[in-house]
Amino acid sequence: MLYAETFQIRGGDFEHGGEVATRIKSICKDLGIRPDLIRRLSIANFEAEMNVIMHADEADLSFQVLPEAVRVVVADRGRGIPDIELAMTPGWSTATPEMRARGFGAGLGLPNIKNSADEFRLESTPGVGTTLTYAVRLA
Ligand SMILES: Nc1ncnc2c1ncn2[C@@H]1O[C@H](COP(=O)(O)OP(=O)(O)OP(=O)(O)O)[C@@H](O)[C@H]1O
Ligand SMILES: [Mg+2]
Repeated sequence: MLYAETFQIRGGDFEHGGEVATRIKSICKDLGIRPDLIRRLSIANFEAEMNVIMHADEADLSFQVLPEAVRVVVADRGRGIPDIELAMTPGWSTATPEMRARGFGAGLGLPNIKNSADEFRLESTPGVGTTLTYAVRLA
């Protein structure tokens, strides 16, 4: 393990939206990770962070830099996702008009995370919460 840190994200906290992704980007730069990999990871981190803010109550985002990959696990408490396949469909969103007015709710976050990562797993228990795991390989 080259680096590990866990960050808290609070549902509804649009004011600090994106701060965890920005912090991780700066850690990755300090660690000398390749810029194209940092860019892909940052897209995934931002979308995952905003999904907690928009759709969940709170989450722990665990970030790990291993010799072979950067891994992120976002475990949230919240309403969960009843139909994962539907949630993964580009353009499908339950975002409110207020969220759309802030520029969110295109229904592209989860597909973007999947496309940006080399590994992707989404598991959810409705009424309990969602765990999203993804990784970007370093080799
Ligand atoms: N952590 C989560 N908890 C509960 N529901 C979620 C979570 N993440 C995503 N969803 C559900 O899946 C849908 C699709 O998510 P996705 O990130 O692709 O789009 P979005 O967040 O609605 O819009 P965008 O990401 O483009 O701003 C969401 O509208 C929401 O219903
Ligand atoms: Mg989203």
